[in-house]
Amino acid sequence: MSRVVRKPAEFRRACEDARAAQRRVGLVPTMGALHRGHFSLIDEAKARADFIAVTIFVNPLQFAPEEDLEQYPRTFESDLDGCRERGVDLVFAPAPNTMYPTGFQTSVSVKELAKPLEGGFRPSHFDGVTTVVTKLFNLAGRCTALFGRKDYQQWKILTRMALDLDMPIELVGCPIIREADGLALSSRNRYLSASERQRALGVVSGLRDAFDAWERGERDPDALRSLTEKSVRPAFDHLDYVAAVDPETLTASPPSPDRLLIAVAAQLGSTRLIDNVVLGEDPRP
Ligand code: PAJ
Repeated sequence: MSRVVRKPAEFRRACEDARAAQRRVGLVPTMGALHRGHFSLIDEAKARADFIAVTIFVNPLQFAPEEDLEQYPRTFESDLDGCRERGVDLVFAPAPNTMYPTGFQTSVSVKELAKPLEGGFRPSHFDGVTTVVTKLFNLAGRCTALFGRKDYQQWKILTRMALDLDMPIELVGCPIIREADGLALSSRNRYLSASERQRALGVVSGLRDAFDAWERGERDPDALRSLTEKSVRPAFDHLDYVAAVDPETLTASPPSPDRLLIAVAAQLGSTRLIDNVVLGEDPRP
């Protein structure tokens, strides 16, 4: 039976009590609209910890004014059913004004890693993410926190932040969960029309083309990048970026890297999708 708490102090207390009872806390931060991608994080948390806390909070700080904060899917009751089925112990679902009461004015910011890729298109996004996750980490205390590599840059930024700020948190980056046809699960996929859903597969073929070329021995980042772009550009209405970068620095890679991150962001109508693969490490998308 998952207990639901709304107040930060209750969340902190529940995690403290769990640790006092010798339970290891596993933390899964989400914005709700839970799907199999989120559930895979819960399963991994259960393998690594024995008190599982899921947070559900659509964080206004990480949405720009023109973005989809109001339209972002909110499916709290079915999220709760999903958590209960999977044996989640605690769900923390605060209201925006308890996380950001009047007078709130502090921001946590990771500098270099937040600049490329998503940072170029969503300038204040990662400051919103690092600020809310700092609050969640401070409330949860010592724990293992699970994130998806679907949001690869987010995972890298949060890992850097925890290291730089001596947070007592072990971060784990989990594999991307995909539909049978390869499309990465996302809360935003529900916005796609049937034809857009079909066109979205352009990103999967693009990543697969790069993967296959890598397997054949291609190591030129620009050649691999172009292969992905060739499939994505015609399928999508707008391409924000296709990048081939070093998976650690998220900037240009040596000419013959042993791992290479191919990351894509593109739009279908008003829906923006992101996806990626780390060549030399991940399985074929
Ligand atoms: P949200 O988009 O709800 O995602 C919560 C977690 O689920 C993230 O770590 C994300 O990478 C992971 N996830 C989403 N789709 C996935 C997929 N197909 N496979 C594997 N993991 C997947 O990311 C956020 O929320 C927010 O930015 C948050 C970290 C909660 C801060 O507000």
